[in-house]
Amino acid sequence: METCARVSELAATGKPIDATGELLPGAIQRIPLAHPAIEVWLARLDLDARQVGQCANLLSRDEQLRAERYHFERDRRRFTVTRGILRTLLGAHLEMAPAAITFGYAENGKPFIADHASPIHFNASHAHERALYAISKSCALGVDIEYLNRDIDTNGLARRFFSPRECAGLKLIPEPARKRAFFACWTRKEAVIKATGEGLALPLDQFEVTAAPDTAPQILDFTAATQQIPGWILYTADVGGDYVATVAARRRK
Ligand SMILES: CC(C)(COP(=O)(O)OP(=O)(O)OC[C@H]1O[C@@H](n2cnc3c(N)ncnc32)[C@H](O)[C@@H]1OP(=O)(O)O)[C@@H](O)C(=O)NCCC(=O)NCCS
Repeated sequence: METCARVSELAATGKPIDATGELLPGAIQRIPLAHPAIEVWLARLDLDARQVGQCANLLSRDEQLRAERYHFERDRRRFTVTRGILRTLLGAHLEMAPAAITFGYAENGKPFIADHASPIHFNASHAHERALYAISKSCALGVDIEYLNRDIDTNGLARRFFSPRECAGLKLIPEPARKRAFFACWTRKEAVIKATGEGLALPLDQFEVTAAPDTAPQILDFTAATQQIPGWILYTADVGGDYVATVAARRRK
């Protein structure tokens, strides 16, 4: 993949990767974050067939098999591009060919880089036609991006998954702003369960986050069963458009 080579060349210079200009043209964009040790990238998944093919060529056999299992071509494309771009970004950091990266998977499915002397932390999330990636040499990470333009019962989902205080906070926000607030809250909670690696095995109502989208994302409270929770700090990733996103990073000691 021509563009991969350019990303790798740039990484080899030791400079931060710059997605502007010719690199993965139009596909990835660096999102500024108030944490100097974390790189955040937003990717478009609606690439042309040639670029999708380039991404597909980077996938491992098990990833190709997984892609083939998607019933809809659209879902196959989104998975393929999400993984292809993840491999491209990580390849640049590791100074190795993106296709040569081997992923391992923790107990609940969180991917990590296997068999590499200097592994880096990363996490990825995808929603509709966007993927979000966070990468860091020093901090463990979790990310979540959500697409707002969906017809869902936010009140019902909040009652089911959020704590009473989060539900009460959301109710104070009038429509149509409540939908954005719901998804902001959702990404804060998902970023946490993805950071710990537990995923949905950690019930979302066992910890509380700030609910309003214009308040600083923060973990407010947690139950005794989830001792890992206070170790994480949340950042809003300003991804624009019809998307909201949060990055959770392990707090520095
Ligand atoms: C992780 C999880 C919350 C992601 O939910 P989602 O909002 O649908 O998906 P996102 O796009 O935000 O994230 C998916 C990506 O997160 C990563 N991921 C997968 N499992 C993960 C985990 N446990 N922790 C962190 N990241 C994970 C992968 O990169 C995945 O991408 P892929 O689908 O291309 O492989 C959900 O899939 C989950 O809970 N999985 C674990 C299942 C589990 O716990 N099983 C055990 C018994 S309950």
